[in-house]
Amino acid sequence: MALAFSEESRRALDEMRSEFPDPGSLLIPALQLAQSDFGHLSYEVLQYVAAELEVPVSTAAGVATFYHNLFTQEHGRHVINICRTLPCALAGSGEVASRFEELLGIRMGETTPDGLITLRWVECLACCGTGPAVQIDFRYYEAFSPEQCEGVVAALRAGEIPPGYTAVPGGEP
Ligand code: FES
Repeated sequence: MALAFSEESRRALDEMRSEFPDPGSLLIPALQLAQSDFGHLSYEVLQYVAAELEVPVSTAAGVATFYHNLFTQEHGRHVINICRTLPCALAGSGEVASRFEELLGIRMGETTPDGLITLRWVECLACCGTGPAVQIDFRYYEAFSPEQCEGVVAALRAGEIPPGYTAVPGGEP
């Protein structure tokens, strides 16, 4: 079946066209809408978005693979991104990852069998001075310790937002 944006996304996209007259500038919001509609940005979805905006599919793929909040692979309902860049690695992001792996019974890059949680390595999350940095569903958790992992998993399993986050790196909790 041919892909099509939901009515809501179509409306949002049409509204944004006047705000972002250059199709290249519209690419990120269009990919976010597509991800929301289709779950992840498969090659077929990238082709669809690229055709919509009349940009090369390679441009859409370049953007989709650059930003860690755009997913080209299937993922769980919640995504735990752990920074592995040097400052966070030195601050202990490896220990955080190991604890999550142990609690969830999966390895980095995998999703729990119930589809609830995906664990991913990412590069710098822009919290280098307060590592290890973890991002859970677009929220930032700085100076994260392995002892916090259990509470995060329990909160996500209960359908709650794990406490202690900021909306932006270095922001107010
Ligand atoms: S190195 Fe981890 S946030 Fe920058």
